[in-house]
This record gives sequence, C-alpha cells and structure tokens, in this order.
Amino acid sequence: MSMNKEAVLKEASRVLDYILKDGLSEDEKQQIIDDSIDNFNENVNPGWLTYRKSVSTDATFVEWEDSMETFRDTKGNEFIDCLGGFGVYTAGHRNPEIVKAVQAQLNRYALHSQELVDPLRGYLAKLVAMITPGDLQYSFFCNGGAEAVEMALKLARLASGKHYYISTVNGFHGKSLGAVSCTGKGTYRKPYLPIIQGVQHVEFGNADAAEAAIKNLIAVGETVAAMIVEPIQGEAGIILPPEGYLKKLREICDKYEVFLIFDEIQTGMGRTGTMWAADYYDVVPDIMTFGKAFGGGVMPITGIVARPHLYTDDIKDNPWVLGSPTFGGNPLACSAAIAAIKYTIENDLPGQIDEKGRYFMEKLAKLKEKYKFIVDIRGKGFLIGIEYRTAEMGWSVSKGLFKRGVMTGGTLNNAMVNRIEPPGILSYETIDTILARLDETLAEVEVEFDVK
Ligand SMILES: Cc1ncc(COP(=O)(O)O)c(C=O)c1O
Repeated sequence: MSMNKEAVLKEASRVLDYILKDGLSEDEKQQIIDDSIDNFNENVNPGWLTYRKSVSTDATFVEWEDSMETFRDTKGNEFIDCLGGFGVYTAGHRNPEIVKAVQAQLNRYALHSQELVDPLRGYLAKLVAMITPGDLQYSFFCNGGAEAVEMALKLARLASGKHYYISTVNGFHGKSLGAVSCTGKGTYRKPYLPIIQGVQHVEFGNADAAEAAIKNLIAVGETVAAMIVEPIQGEAGIILPPEGYLKKLREICDKYEVFLIFDEIQTGMGRTGTMWAADYYDVVPDIMTFGKAFGGGVMPITGIVARPHLYTDDIKDNPWVLGSPTFGGNPLACSAAIAAIKYTIENDLPGQIDEKGRYFMEKLAKLKEKYKFIVDIRGKGFLIGIEYRTAEMGWSVSKGLFKRGVMTGGTLNNAMVNRIEPPGILSYETIDTILARLDETLAEVEVEFDVK
C-alpha cells in the first residue's frame, strides 16, 4: 500500500500547529488528550497507558509544558516535580540559562558535519576533566545512559585485553544488550538470555564477595576486565554503600589489575550532595559514566570519562574502535552540558542539594515516627527512598500524592520504595508544601490499609 501523502501532510500540519502556537483552545486541549490515547494504543504500545494509569489514575493527564520546579498538563493542572525525571532535572525544568545557550547554538548550527573538528565537544571534554575526581581525563560522549555503559564496558575490554565483568545484584545499568547483561535484575535480563556471557553478579556492599569472584575467575583461567558499580544503587531502591565498601573495591581492583567503573548516570552532577558520589566516598574510578542531569534537563547527552592509562596506543591510533555515534557529543547537546556545568558550579547546586536533602530527610524521619507503615527513610542529597511495608502501600502513596499535585517515583513495577529525586533548585517553601501533602496522603493510606 503506498503512502497517502495528503493524509500525512494534513496530520503533520495539524500537530505542528499545536507545537507552534502559543495557547490552545478548550477543544484543542481535549483533542490532544483523545489523540494521545488513540496514538498510544494504536502506534506506541497500549501497555503504556495501563502502566501510567497506575499513578495518574487515568490517562487524561497529558504533559504539555514545564518550568523549573513544576510541569503542567494540557488542561493546566500543575504538578510539583518530586521525581525529577529520575535524576534528569537537577538544574530544574527548562532552566533559562541552559535554554539560552542551546537556543544560541541552535541559531548557529545544530548538529555537526561529522568531518570537521567540532569545538564544543573539545571544550566540554576539558570541563569534564576539570570537574571529575583524580586524573579522569578523556571523555567520550553519547546519547543515552545505556549507551554510555556500553562504552565503559567496551573501553575496559579494549584497554585491558581482558574479558569478564563483575557487577552487582540489583544494580541498574540500562537495558541495551551489553548494559542489561550487567544490570542485576532477573526481570530485565531473563527475556534476553543468553547475553554477554562473561558477567558475574555479586552482592552489593560485600567487597569480599567481589574479591572472591575475581580471584576464582582468575584461578580457573579467566581474565577480568572490570567491576561496574553504582556508588549508590538507585533503581534497586536507594541503597547506600556500607562504610568503606567503595574504597575496598578500589583496593581489590588495584590488587588484581581490574578496572573500576562507577556508573554515576543517576548519582552525578550534584544529585547526592557532592558533584559526584565518587567525591563524597573519596574514590577515583578508572572509568566513570554520566548522563541524566548532564544535559541540564534540556538536551540528552551522556558519556564516559576515563583515566589516561586506559587510552592505549591502539585506542589512540584508531579512535573509531570504541564507537562513533552519529549524534554523540553533538553541538546542541554539548552547549546544554556546558551551560549545565556552569550553572551547577556557579550556584553550588551540590551544596544546595546537600543542605536541602538533610532538611527533607529530617522531616521525613518525623513522618516515619508518625506512620508506622513506613519501614525506612534513606538516601543522600536529593536521592531519597521511602520504603513501605508493601508495594501496594507505596503505590497508594504515589497515587495520593499525584492526586494532590505532586509527582514521585513508584509504580506497580517497583512501588515498595518511593523515589524522591526533585530538582536541586527546589525552594524550601516547596519542600514544605510537598511534606504537608505527603502527611495528608500518609494519613489517608493509613486508613486505607488499616495500619495505625
Ligand atoms: C545508574 C544508571 N545507569 C544507567 C542507566 C540507563 O540510562 P538510560 O535510561 O538513559 O539508558 C540508568 C537509568 O536509570 C541509571 O540509573
């Protein structure tokens, strides 16, 4: 069947009209909601609507605009963002300073020729070396977090000539084939098995288990390229490393000449109260991944930074061998990341997040005393988990908060722990509003589950 050009042009023009115009009429608002339901059912995956419904009660909340702390749906309902896109919006939504840089770059050139030297990539790589710990020096930029993990895994093999990876149970590193091999959850890995064969998962927080795995692999003739770990496990439910764990991993990796990879895609750019979690735990990894907030909440850009000894002559002689993503490190994305770095340092976002995170956690601890069905409050900076007795309770809290105009993490998929990852620019006043609405919600859930 050939394409109906007329219909395509009509549909594209209608949507562009919505994008380009300043305000929407009531009819148009309803039309966008109806279209979204139809389009997701017919052309995306009907499963998404059922899944999203778990928190938003029904599918008529269609995201349309945002600014700094909040986003709004087509009908103008406003939500305080307490999830921050799982770590994307550390500098806020459409932070004007970051948008300004991207707009200026957009007016000059957006993507690169792929042939000439693109200066923004170089400037950004220099800045990354300046803001990351120790002698981390060479950067490689890509588009998504899983892609950055792929690059880290590949670089470790290229630079070492070795094979195996050690990862952690419940660790999350993304869902592309290589990344999902290292991700430590059966539900994500099982449908794709067999994947990268040379990955051994060990318990997070247990350095002896990591050492035993490396030692045993070497004893039976295998080679170990790298150990990959999130300094604080995010997706697993905000699991902090035990005292001294990351330093011990550094020592073990040095002892067996295994590269240490920190996946800071979620913990980086100030999220945990220091620029990188590695800074707080005072450990320099051999490779560090970054993403999410790195593009300032405006552009998607991720990457890795590595210590100089990993860049062997082979890699320098053939820079394409690691990868050459068409859009990785494109000028628009780099302009956003450069502006994000400036904003983060100039406004001491990590320091702000450290202080506000402590304030938030203190108030949450009080709520834990009041509501016995809260099992634990834990976290660092603005990476906070509230654990409930059951997933159903967590889900009800998320739903109750959403009803009150506060978005948190926690769907039926992983609801036992609500993830609180708000923008770092959140005001104390907004934190108090969130806490008041949480208090109300918890009281409601207490009655719902009869758990006083
Ligand atoms: C620690 C960590 N690594 C990797 C990823 C994958 O990133 P992306 O979803 O951009 O592929 C995530 C995403 O949540 C993450 O938190």
